[in-house]
Amino acid sequence: MKLANRISKLQPYLFMEISRKIVAKRAAGADVISFGIGDPDLPTPPHIINRLIGASLDPPNHRYPESDGLHQFRKSIANWYQRRFGLSLNPDKEVVPLIGAKEGIGHMALCLLDPGDIALVPDPGYPVYSVGTMFAGGESYWMPLKEENGWLPDLDAIPPDVARVARVMWLCYPNNPTGAVADLGFFQKAVDFAKRYDIVVCHDACYTEIAYDGYKPVSFLQAKGALDVGLEFHSLSKSYNMTGWRVGMAVGNADLVNALTRVKSNLDSGIPQAIQYAAMEALDGSQQSIQDNIAVYTRRRDKVVEALHNAGLEIVPPKAGLYIWVRVPHGYTSAEFATLLLDQQDLVVTPGNGYGPQGEGYIRFSLTINDADLDRGVARLAKLRVSAKGPKAIDNRPTRFVDLIRDHVVAKYVRPAKPGDTITITAKDISGALQRGNIYRQICNAIDLERFQKENGLRLIDRQGPPSGYGNVTWQFHLLKS
Ligand SMILES: Cc1ncc(COP(=O)(O)O)c(C=O)c1O
Repeated sequence: MKLANRISKLQPYLFMEISRKIVAKRAAGADVISFGIGDPDLPTPPHIINRLIGASLDPPNHRYPESDGLHQFRKSIANWYQRRFGLSLNPDKEVVPLIGAKEGIGHMALCLLDPGDIALVPDPGYPVYSVGTMFAGGESYWMPLKEENGWLPDLDAIPPDVARVARVMWLCYPNNPTGAVADLGFFQKAVDFAKRYDIVVCHDACYTEIAYDGYKPVSFLQAKGALDVGLEFHSLSKSYNMTGWRVGMAVGNADLVNALTRVKSNLDSGIPQAIQYAAMEALDGSQQSIQDNIAVYTRRRDKVVEALHNAGLEIVPPKAGLYIWVRVPHGYTSAEFATLLLDQQDLVVTPGNGYGPQGEGYIRFSLTINDADLDRGVARLAKLRVSAKGPKAIDNRPTRFVDLIRDHVVAKYVRPAKPGDTITITAKDISGALQRGNIYRQICNAIDLERFQKENGLRLIDRQGPPSGYGNVTWQFHLLKS
């Protein structure tokens, strides 16, 4: 049997790998506590379930729904956006319900990308942006999110040659996995950038309803001109503890909504109607459950933050979202430290590198864990005494250049001792690793090399090997400072 190439390009879905580990540990008798997956343990509020039960008894709701949902449901979504963000949306042109935001995010790539087209994708980021891009035959250009920039992409660092050919930019705030937030000023910059280069902005806003200490996240669509260039993806999953019901929405530019609706109508048959009624109840009814959720997550966030501080780990308490993003002790990789937590404390966390190379050096704790388990998990964290290990690595959070060559290095490289010394890195057949698109391949390689040098105090003095990366490539650098 021959499967399509895109199947072999798929990494195992991040959480499938984590689930597999948990099952194996539990089968071996371990009392595993998982801070891994972002799936609220809190139940869907009763008034929403009651509406679902009532609607499920009504025969018209047993039939195929429309792909674009019930008019009343689209209206509920528009009204919710009006109440929450002060935005007026046309329910018939600027709103489309989704079978969860994930479905819409995946399908959106089919609306925007032809084979070879470029999508600007955050690194680290929710994996569906790049997987959808790959399914559509496109190429992801990774926009590095860095701690020093508040985990926002540096739009000025995107080379104009890339921006001119890119079709879409994906953003997500409050951010998964870093917990960062964006203000209207940043969204305005994104709109201006999109207009300058004729790029669509798709903003994933699934976490706006979980925010701490009185902070209220904004919508991308509140930025001036956003409706001209963008679409916002939202979800009832996290806001109303409805991950299992599969309801979300895309709202924004009418042409983009229309394109997504057309793709969906050819591939799915919409959200079961009884669930649409339940979703209307969620959006139109009492919003008390959102306040209740926030109270629970605030309590949990504070406990985990305190335990992590006490364990000597570096963190910034998040202003919003369900996650705590933690820098691992110096000398560990994300996977090594996640494995240490699992082996020593039976604690599951998500390694940051699963969200992209820039996530290397971090792990993610999810707060969607019941209080009793959280308390036991926190008690285990309190026992943890971690410190940096090993000699100072050249960089425990590899830049993408390092990441590209990591699996291809022929001879292990060691940081030289004094300025003026040289360091030689040889990698074998990196063509596969660099195979990320035509123009983009060269540009990206050059940028990463530049960054690698800057971050490590090196200057490139020689590069030998075929430009395409087939065969051995050797780079030689001078150490500028120790
Ligand atoms: C950033 C982000 N977007 C989208 C989703 C998916 O949301 P939904 O349940 O609506 O498909 C998730 C789920 O974890 C997420 O973290």
